Amino acid sequence: MDVRDWGTFLLPYEQTVEELKVKFKTMRAELKKREEYAPIEFVTGRVKKISSILDKAKRLGVAMEDLETGIEDIAGIRIMCQFVEDIRRVAEYIRGRKDLTVLYEKDYITNYKESGYRSFHMIIEYPVQTAVGQKKVLAEIQIRTLAMNFWATIEHSLNYKYRDKLPGEMKERLKIAAEAAFVLDNEMSSIREEILESQKTFEDDSNLVSKTLGAIHQLYFYHLISEAIDAQRRFNEIWESRNLSAMKDLLDEVKGLLRSAKKGEDMETTDGL
Ligand code: GTP
Ligand code: MG
Repeated sequence: MDVRDWGTFLLPYEQTVEELKVKFKTMRAELKKREEYAPIEFVTGRVKKISSILDKAKRLGVAMEDLETGIEDIAGIRIMCQFVEDIRRVAEYIRGRKDLTVLYEKDYITNYKESGYRSFHMIIEYPVQTAVGQKKVLAEIQIRTLAMNFWATIEHSLNYKYRDKLPGEMKERLKIAAEAAFVLDNEMSSIREEILESQKTFEDDSNLVSKTLGAIHQLYFYHLISEAIDAQRRFNEIWESRNLSAMKDLLDEVKGLLRSAKKGEDMETTDGL
């Protein structure tokens, strides 16, 4: 390939990166609206530098005319997630998309690399619409947590600085750091589990509150005015002390009053009013 061809060779890759960035950012915004929580924290993308393409082609023995099929990460997208669990969800969304085809996946989370590297990779084929027609280009999507990204970014810059001749001791320390990032991710996941659990309890609690208030309100319909005032006063006290089992007892008691009022009404043949 002639040197002058690089500009046009890279065009569809630049377009692919731009389009995919927009699509995944839109996905983030949409999920946030729908579910109040986005499994995507942020998205980045890049087109591989010409020098890196040449290096990799040489390393892998890819001929210049086979770059399009021989190098899968000329277009690269990175999706960062808060929690490890989010990675599977994002991968599932990507598999379901109709505007790209997943060719294969590399799970470096289950099978982390010797270096300590962790991420989930998807190699996709993306049909990009160019001025000269449709072109299918390969792209690599890396999905990882913020901790995985932190580690990979630093490890990469150290490797770059030392030109892949990182001292053995540094490699060992990086492995330990990768382990620490893994522990951090697990800890964050378990904290999140507990938060979700307490959110569920919070929902149960607020259901209990609205049920109790609703029941007290019904007392008025049965002209149980002093009972209603008394129940309201007790509700206020219980609410102040956040004593939810007392709230549950109050609800049961009010329900009991309503039941007997209802029974009494059913037995009455004439309306008292
Ligand atoms: P390259 O590693 O890119 O030369 O290609 P490959 O065909 O060996 O694919 P692989 O799946 O091993 O890596 C693809 C990409 O994952 C790389 O370009 C990096 O972005 C990332 N990656 C893989 N291994 C490491 C690692 O040990 N450290 C860091 N920081 N990133 C890695
Ligand atoms: Mg590699």
